Amino acid sequence: MIQVLFICLGNICRSPSAEAIFMDVLHKNNAEDIIYCESAGILSVHAGQGADSRMKQHALKRGYTLLSISSPIDPLSDFDQFDYIIGMDTDNIASLHQLARREEHKQKIHLMTDFCTRTSATHVPDPYYGGAAGFERVLDILEDACNGLYAHIRHNNPH
Ligand code: 4NP
Repeated sequence: MIQVLFICLGNICRSPSAEAIFMDVLHKNNAEDIIYCESAGILSVHAGQGADSRMKQHALKRGYTLLSISSPIDPLSDFDQFDYIIGMDTDNIASLHQLARREEHKQKIHLMTDFCTRTSATHVPDPYYGGAAGFERVLDILEDACNGLYAHIRHNNPH
């Protein structure tokens, strides 16, 4: 199994959405036996909580049910377990590089928007303190990035 870990700050908005959208892509491509994904946060303040209710509502309008429960990344195990560790913005990437102790772990770190093929976003903007448009923008970017990520993984792992 190829294992993917989506990371954002709180693990209640962006990375739970990335997880649900990517699981939908995997389901549509019949690839759930080949690729596995989860999400986690940099912060632990929301640990144990479900996704943000606003994010859930916007996602549900597009058919995605956010089921994940917030938990912080565990650097001691996650950098070994996962093959792709994908942050939503450059702050996430900087935090991940601080947490990754070994060069082979750092090489697993990627920026989500680097997998976009249709949108020119340079990061997935934190929607937490904004309005409805911010949540829609998150979903637009993530739908593009998830499809690009799937194509990237399949290209690099043809069997
Ligand atoms: P997320 O959004 O990183 O997309 O889950 C946030 C959620 C909570 C906070 C910040 C961003 N917070 O500061 O509590």
